Amino acid sequence: MALALYDSEYGFYIKGPGIGTRRGTFNTNAMFPAFAFALTRAIQHAEGLVGEPLRIMEFGGGTGELASNLRSFLSTPHEYVIVDISPGFRTQQTGRGFQAIDSVDSLPPAPTFAFGNEVLDALPVHRVMGDGFGELLEFFVAIDGKGEFFEQPDIPSTPLLAERLRSEGIILGRGHIAEICLDLDEFMEKMARPIARGYLALIDYGEEASSLYSYSRRNGTLRSFRSQQEVFNPFEWVGDQDLTADVDFTALKRAATKAGLQSTGCLQQGTWLTNLGIQDYRKVVEDIRSAEEEIFFLTNPARLGSTFDVALFKTEGIPDGCSLHLR
Ligand SMILES: C[S@@+](CC[C@H](N)C(=O)[O-])C[C@H]1O[C@@H](n2cnc3c(N)ncnc32)[C@H](O)[C@@H]1O
Repeated sequence: MALALYDSEYGFYIKGPGIGTRRGTFNTNAMFPAFAFALTRAIQHAEGLVGEPLRIMEFGGGTGELASNLRSFLSTPHEYVIVDISPGFRTQQTGRGFQAIDSVDSLPPAPTFAFGNEVLDALPVHRVMGDGFGELLEFFVAIDGKGEFFEQPDIPSTPLLAERLRSEGIILGRGHIAEICLDLDEFMEKMARPIARGYLALIDYGEEASSLYSYSRRNGTLRSFRSQQEVFNPFEWVGDQDLTADVDFTALKRAATKAGLQSTGCLQQGTWLTNLGIQDYRKVVEDIRSAEEEIFFLTNPARLGSTFDVALFKTEGIPDGCSLHLR
């Protein structure tokens, strides 16, 4: 999965900018100005709490559409940095006038509001299965005589996989498949490092471990998408289709704690946006009908409102996330 997404020549995220919007035309927050409007409210509120202007740091900015919309709603100019692994997307982001970098290494710590929309679900996962005796098997990618890829279960590549599930109290039954993202710790550390003081909001689809690894999800959550269609085979179009899996929010919160951040809560996107005052978006646009459609799509539980959750974090010594409209 890491090669399919990140190989320096053939990886899906590296090849851009032909990647485009994915997972369905009406399936991403980034395309809705109303989402950017509400996010601006979160930033302004965070600045009020910290008592100073905040640098904005976006992880996985894609085409830069969300950043552009966000900038249009900010009343004062802000330093805005996008951290994105994709050279193609970075070109699009700089084309829109943003500072786009591939790593946080060069970023000095500063008071910051950081966020990422659908970036965690792009991190590679290991795919494992319960063997019925309390042990795990891991699926490796093998190649058959005809040159076709197939999944081959074997002894796991690292004890960290079993450790992760054990630490979450999960014991997979025989044949129960699950994905585990071991990159979360390092990724959270990278996101936290430049935040001298401030907040981090991560918007993604996922569950606490107790739901993510429930029996009802015994086939796992790995999915592949190409040209805005779900493809039911991760071995087709390798490097030309996106691969994604639901985020383990329990592991995410632990990774955040290790990185020195404090979790201030996790809530459905619809509730978060409503609490931030997304309804006011109607007052700032001319086309009220289309504004209402956007708000409905982003907040209704049958649309994106319950598809995504928002995990909120902060650094030590500043007011907590309740004030970021966690009610
Ligand atoms: C699913 S897209 C989401 C794009 C945008 N946020 C949106 O909602 O449309 C994932 C984004 O994260 C970037 N990305 C993936 N893995 C990354 C990583 N390890 N570090 C930084 N960016 C990454 C991709 O290049 C892409 O821009």
